[in-house]
This record gives sequence, structure tokens and C-alpha cells, in this order.
Amino acid sequence: MTALVTGASSGIGREIARELAKKGYDLILVARSRDKMVSLAKELSKFNVKVRIIVTDLSKEEHCIKLYERTKKYNIDILINDAGYGVFGRFTDTPLKRELNMIDVNIKAVHILTKLFLRDLNKKNSGYILNVASSAAFCPGPLFSSYYASKAYILRLSQAIDEELKKDGSDVYVGTLCPGPVRTNFDSTAGVSFAMKGISSRYAAKYAVRNMFKRKKVIIPGKIMKFLPIFVRLAPTSLVLHFCYYFQKRKSS
Ligand SMILES: NC(=O)c1ccc[n+]([C@@H]2O[C@H](COP(=O)([O-])OP(=O)(O)OC[C@H]3O[C@@H](n4cnc5c(N)ncnc54)[C@H](OP(=O)(O)O)[C@@H]3O)[C@@H](O)[C@H]2O)c1
Repeated sequence: MTALVTGASSGIGREIARELAKKGYDLILVARSRDKMVSLAKELSKFNVKVRIIVTDLSKEEHCIKLYERTKKYNIDILINDAGYGVFGRFTDTPLKRELNMIDVNIKAVHILTKLFLRDLNKKNSGYILNVASSAAFCPGPLFSSYYASKAYILRLSQAIDEELKKDGSDVYVGTLCPGPVRTNFDSTAGVSFAMKGISSRYAAKYAVRNMFKRKKVIIPGKIMKFLPIFVRLAPTSLVLHFCYYFQKRKSS
């Protein structure tokens, strides 16, 4: 059994790779940072699993397709689309190039890999795809607008695909991980500090893997964050936007 994990060089992706290795899955680790993945691969050798490393920049469409072409022979059972990052700031201030690169990683790469691997999983009618979105997927995010929107795309795409699979009577799982703040490199990459204390990436990953195998479709680690989608559903959008702006503003200070 083999799992491919993008974003495996740090944070949530690295912890998910550790969890899957513990369960005996051979791994394909994908990110740009070779050294971090080499040291993770060394660490995981104690679980007696095969670990392969692929260094690639997923912001490039052709790299995503090449990644699939290189790895389809391993008959992937689990795809974890974790790689992603945020660009924080007022929409008119954030650099266009960086934001477009973020959209390529957060949306385009997940879209491509989900489509290509899902076709193979459908053929054998088994396997799991877990797409890492965020609690940001549940609402509009003033001051973090394109990041929030990118994660909404991932949640809605995954839910819609899952419904298609359900109607086909398929046993393939497509789910979404929607954590609130998690202590990783995310905030330093995005140039913010979180307004609330995040959960550990180890906890988020353990929770994610456990619930993926329970076939839960939208996975929200942490008690407080579970209320967010309920609040967003019940409250007027103007109030949601107001709260969201307030929380993001606290992040920036
Ligand atoms: N931390 C949070 O509070 C939080 C909350 C909700 C959702 N998330 C989501 O969780 C996912 C993982 O983030 P994290 O919190 O674990 O942050 P992180 O520690 O910064 O990890 C991000 C991972 O994405 C990889 N990555 C980024 N750009 C890439 C690219 N162009 N090509 C290939 N790999 C790339 C990074 O690897 P390299 O730099 O080595 O390429 C790294 O392994 C993201 O999708 C993020 O949006 C995070």
C-alpha cells in the first residue's frame, strides 16, 4: 500500500506522512525542500516502509503532470494534497505574482493531481484522496481574501466530486481537511501571527488520518473550530464578514 503526500517537508504534511508510515504505508514524499524530506525519510526507516522523495515545484502545471506520470506505476492508494500557503494583506496591496503562484499551488496543483489520480482509483474502485483546505474554506476572508477563496475552491470541488462518486456507488473516498490555526511554518510564510493559539500539527495529522479512515468527508480538528461552519450557516453574511475582518486585523498587528 502506497501513499503520496505533497507538502511532506514540514508542518501538517510531514506529520501525516509520519502517521501513514506508522500504519505501514510506503510513502512518496513531495515538496521543494530535499534536505528536510531526506531527514524525514531516514527517520521513517524504523517503520520498515519504502520512502521515495520527489523534489518538485507544484506551482508549475507541467510538474504536476510529470509527478503523476512518474508515480502512477506505484499504484497509489492514498493521495494527500497538502502543499499550500497563504498571502496575507489587503487585496490591492498583495503582490499579484505571489498571489497567482499561491493560486497555482493551492488550487491548480490540487485540481490536477485529484483528477489524474482519481481516474486510477476509480478503475480499482478503492483508495483515498484527502485534500487539505482550511477553516478558511467556510467563509469570505477580508485581508486574506485570495487564500480563503482558494480553500473554498478545494472544499467545494472535493464535496462535488464526492457526490458524483456516491451516485456511482463508488468505494473511493474524497474528503477535505479543514483545520483552524495549526502551529507550523504557515504563518511565517504568510507573514502573519495568529490571533489565537493553534493546535499542534501532530494532533491535526492524527485526527485527519483517523477520520479519513472513518470516511468522514469534512474533517475539522479542534473543538472550537467545529462551530465555525454552523455560525457561518446561521449568521448573516454581513456579520460573518465583520467578524472575519476583525480576526484578520488582529492577526496583522
Ligand atoms: N497552519 C495552519 O494554520 C493551517 C490551517 C489550515 C490549513 N492549512 C493548510 O495546510 C497545508 C500545509 O500547511 P502547513 O500549515 O503545514 O504549513 P507549512 O509548514 O509551511 O507547510 C507547507 C508545505 O507545502 C509545501 N509547498 C509550498 N509551496 C510548494 C510548492 N510550490 N511546491 C511544492 N510544495 C510546496 C512546503 O514544502 P517546500 O517549501 O519544501 O516546497 C511545505 O511542505 C496548506 O495547504 C495550508 O494552507 C494550514
